[in-house]
Parts: sequence; C-alpha cells; structure tokens
Amino acid sequence: MSTKLLLSFLLVFGVFTLNAQESSVSELQLMPWPQEVNVNSSDFKITKDFSIYIHGEVKEDSRIFKASTRFLRYMTDKSGVFVNQGFPNSKGMDTESASLQIGFNEVAKVEMGIDESYTLIVDKGGIKINAATDVGAMHGLSTLLQLIKVNDGAYVFTGVSIEDEPRFVWRGLMMDVARHFMPIEVVKRNIDAMAFVKLNVFHWHLSDDQGFRVELNTLPKLTEMASDGLFYTQDQIRDIVAYADARGIRVVPEFDVPGHGSAFLTAYPELGSKKDIEYSLERDAGIFDPTLDPTNDKTYEFMDTLFKEAAPLFQDVYFHIGGDENEGKHWHENPEIQQFMKENDLKDNHELQTYFNIKLEKILAKYGKSLMGWEEIMTENMPKSALIHSWRGVNEGVAPGQSLVDAVKNGYKTILSNGYYIDLLLSVEDHYAVDPMPAIELTKEEASRILGGEATMWSELVTPLTIDSRIWPRTAAIAERFWSAKEVTDVDSMLERMNSISQSLELMGIQHKKASEYIFRNLANYQDTHALRTLSQISEPFKIYSRNAGGTEYKTYSPFTLFADACIVDAKDVRPFRKAVEAYIKSADTQTKEAVQQYLKTWKGLHEQLEMISPDAPLIATILPYANRVAEISERLLNGIAEGKLTQEQFNDLKLLLESKEDPSLNLDVELAVSKDLLVLATYLAE
Ligand code: ACM
Repeated sequence: MSTKLLLSFLLVFGVFTLNAQESSVSELQLMPWPQEVNVNSSDFKITKDFSIYIHGEVKEDSRIFKASTRFLRYMTDKSGVFVNQGFPNSKGMDTESASLQIGFNEVAKVEMGIDESYTLIVDKGGIKINAATDVGAMHGLSTLLQLIKVNDGAYVFTGVSIEDEPRFVWRGLMMDVARHFMPIEVVKRNIDAMAFVKLNVFHWHLSDDQGFRVELNTLPKLTEMASDGLFYTQDQIRDIVAYADARGIRVVPEFDVPGHGSAFLTAYPELGSKKDIEYSLERDAGIFDPTLDPTNDKTYEFMDTLFKEAAPLFQDVYFHIGGDENEGKHWHENPEIQQFMKENDLKDNHELQTYFNIKLEKILAKYGKSLMGWEEIMTENMPKSALIHSWRGVNEGVAPGQSLVDAVKNGYKTILSNGYYIDLLLSVEDHYAVDPMPAIELTKEEASRILGGEATMWSELVTPLTIDSRIWPRTAAIAERFWSAKEVTDVDSMLERMNSISQSLELMGIQHKKASEYIFRNLANYQDTHALRTLSQISEPFKIYSRNAGGTEYKTYSPFTLFADACIVDAKDVRPFRKAVEAYIKSADTQTKEAVQQYLKTWKGLHEQLEMISPDAPLIATILPYANRVAEISERLLNGIAEGKLTQEQFNDLKLLLESKEDPSLNLDVELAVSKDLLVLATYLAE
C-alpha cells in the first residue's frame, strides 16, 4: 500500500488522528491534569538559544520575572543545556522570536478566588502562555516544566494546546510545626513543591501542646518558655509569607485555642482553666487537658495582644483559631467556670466555646481578619462568617465529612480535610478517591460554599529529615483532586504521573527520596545499604496512628531515624510484585514464573546480607528477625514453585507464618506490604 493510500485509509477510518492523539495525551506526565488538553505532535526542542520574553512592563523583582528565571534554572538542570540567555527579557533580544512568550493582563493580589486560569500552546514554532493574571501565567510555567520529555535523543517540550483552570479555589497543605519544629528551609522547599502542583494555600499550624513557634515582642514568654528555642523570628515569618506570595500561595496561620493549650499555659499559666497545676510543654502525642479560661477577661486581652502583633505578619484575611479537640475537662473541674456558665445561660462546653469564639472573631475583625477553625467551632450561635474546616471521620466516631455537609446547609463556607490526612500513612489511592464535593444532592448555592480542601501533615512522627517523604509524592495526587475535573479518577494513570512528578520534585530540591538513603546509611553504620533498601521496598510504616498508639511510645525527642522512618507508603515493589503474581497465576509459563522467583530469591537473600553487616551496626540487629521471617517465607514459596505445589500442611504452616501475631516486623513498626500477595501465591500453589 502506498503511503498516500495508507494515509487515506487511516483517515477514512478515523484511526490516524484519533489514535495518534489519544495515545500521546495518555503519555503526558501532567499533575494536576488540565481541564482541556490536546497534543499536536509538534514538539519544541530545548537548545542553547532558548529564550523567554514576558510582555508588558516587567521588573526584575516581579513574581513573573522570578518565576520565569526559576523555570529556566529547572529547565537547564533537567536538560543539561547551556542556554545563552539566563534570564527573561534579556537586553537586545529579538522579542518576536523568543522561544517562550508570556502574556497576562494584571498582577494579582494573592487572595482567595483570583483568576488562576491560563492557556498554553507548544509547537515547533514556539511556546505561548497567556493568562488573566501573573499567577495564572505561573501555573502555565509549572505545566510547561512537566511537559519536558525525551524525544529522539533530546529534551523537548511536548507539543500541546492546553486550557486550564482550577476546580476549587482553596487547595491547601497544612504543616504542623509545633509537634516537631520545621526550619524555614523545610517550609520553603515544600512551598516550591506546592507551587509545582498548583496548591495555593499554605496552612501553618504554629502552636500546640508541644510548642509555640512565633516570636512575639509583646508576649515574649511564649518563645522564651514554650518553644525549646525553636521558633520563627518575625523577619523569617515575613520572609516565608513573601516567598509563598511570590509563588501565588496564600499563608494561613493557625494558633490553636482554647484546647491544645499547653504551650500557651506554660508561658502564661494565669490564663489556664485549672489553677493549681504546673503547666509544661508536652513531650508525648495525644489530646491533653490544658485549656485557656474563657471566663477570664485576661484571656481576651492576651488574645488581642497576640492577634494585634501577629495579624500584620500575614497578608491573608483568614486566621485559623484551631478550636479542635477541646474536651473541656478543666472547664468541668473548675467551679468558677461552671458558675459563669450558669450565670450566662451557657448550657454546655460547646456554648462556652462558642462564647469564646465569638469574642475572638470580634478581635480578629478589629485587625482585618476573618476567623476559620476546625469543625468543632460550628455551633448554633457561631456567626456564618466563620469558615468551617471539616476534618473528623471514622477514627473520631463520626460520619466522614458530615460536618462539611452540615456547614453548607447551615450557610457556612467550608473546606475538607477528612480523607486528606496524609499523616495516617494510607495509600495514595485512598486519598485520591475522596472528593471535596459530597455525593449527595446540594443546591448550587450550597455547593458553592465548598471552597476546596487541605492535606494535613501533622508532625508527631516526622522531623525535618522525613517530612518531605510523608508529604510527597502523595500530596501531588491530592492536589489533582482539588484542581482537576471530578471525572479524572483513573488510578493507574494517576500512579504513573505521580511517579514522574516525584522525580521532578527531587530535581527541585524536595528531599522525599533522599531521606531514606540517609537513614539506611545510619542504620548500616556506613556499610552496604543495598539490602536495607530492598527490604524497605516491601515494607510500609504502620498506618492510622498505630505506630504510636496512646501517643507515648514516641516522644518529641525520640529517634525518627529508624527503619520505619525510611519506609514509605505505597512501597515500591508492592504493585509490581502483585502484577507478577497475577500474571503467573493467569498463565504459569517460564517467563511469569521467573519474574515471581526473581523477587522471592532477592528477598530470601536479604537476611544473610544484613547479618553480615550487623556486627558493626547495632541497629541492623533489630531488623534481623524481620528479615529472617521474610527469608523463610520466600524460601517456602520458592520450594513450592519448584515443586509445582504446596501440600495442605505446607500451606497451613505458611499461612500461620504470614498471619502470625508474633511477627517481628511489629517491633519495627512496619508491615510486610506484600503479605496479601504472598498469601495469594501460596493459595494458588496449594490448589
Ligand atoms: C485535628 O486533627 N485535631 C484537627
């Protein structure tokens, strides 16, 4: 068939255009997935002549100039290309022929609800980003970075045309810097990662029972007595706010009151609801009793002083006052507080807390701020201007996200965090399946009150070393849930794209991959780490707070450089092994058999390798029983495969071993993440 004939055949049957386009679109490694995307098979090659021209009046300290410069650095780092022009709008450039042309109508004030849309066109002739605001244009730059791929032995930008805008206006990441303090470089690199996946709210949890983290000149004892010397100076706070603003990200501070109050009361015990105790910073994890006294005028003077000094440090209108998990024990125990409630006709603790919240709302309003708080602040008399942060679910004994529905039905604006608790260490698939919009009928107005959501990184069990590996890459998939169309739900596609984003994040300086390597080297006492890494690829840290049940096993000063800290959620070999087992069961030929055997042989050998380095590495000795069990299970399965079967007795023994409560992995706070698949394999061999 001549080429011409072939072409007309393909065109007549619609194969050519459809297939070429579809297959290429599915190859794009974009996250979050854009609202509209088409590929044009006309890639733009990255060469030393690459240049950027930003239209309009552009200063060197403007957001878009700096973002374009960062874009260039990433592009050259990725591609290894030595560009001639290291900055946009270089002197004497031929603006008409610049590779990347950026246009936008206005410089945005970074606040909720700004226009973040953009269009992006890439073809052989050049690249164009257009947007209503500079923030939209920066989203276009993030997308463009994700379009870098190899074609024909060179780095190119994939030819596309994209029209994009977010589904939700509030796309957040909360970072708890109270349980474990996070230095500013940790905050900054995570803000960079947020920008890369188009998150736009950094919620900064700045106080809790374990520490208060902001220097306040008017309340100096907060950092002198309740921070262990770990806090941000005001210059550092302003620096972070500016850093986030430069990336189109709002910063919402949280000072958690009236519960979670140990740090406040360590510094200012006279504001406590219990008079005869000595308050001190918490070292354990959990829910504690120290609570501000809402009946004391001094408490409001204190909050006024705090807000007055803290409010101008932050540009955003929202101030988060926490409000969660106040069990009111010290309120119950204080007869004066009980008397106050009677006199003021406050029926219960909820009403007393609402009394407190309403006063706080007025103080915040004085300083130009709007109040938001965790869902417990939503009570009958709470003003509708409060923003409700929905978080509780099955772990708290309530219907997940119920408060979100209640909030919109009661006229409140709301955001969702239930389902996005990344500190629970659940698979990304679990988070990805949760949509901020509930699956019930809502009026248009009610639905419009759902602003979006936030992933929450509570830091009881993370340190500056490990926090990136707990946030990323899973939060990229959550970011997609907040940005992309509701229909974007394909898990395989998500996993593939998330993996690609994870690699890009590493180049950007995020330490999610590095952390485990540091830990392996330390565990091995600087001997060979290969066996540890391989074992970690089938081991996952305990989920749903079971690692620190009761909150006392790990204190704030415990080591977080253990095997469990190096293990990550969705361990690397779990899915591939599952696929190998499935393929073997479906069709047991030499190839599928060898694929399974290869895994098992590798795992069988780990114990011996670890044993060899253990004399000079005491921490390895703690891992040996687990590695031994993995070796034992692997060996029995290898024998089963070699024999072509497991006897019923062998199967029963193996099942007992796999399900044993004596499992030594429990001492390491990890689970063997391939257990289910090993059992599937054993069951198949026994049948
Ligand atoms: C929370 O997780 N206590 C808001």
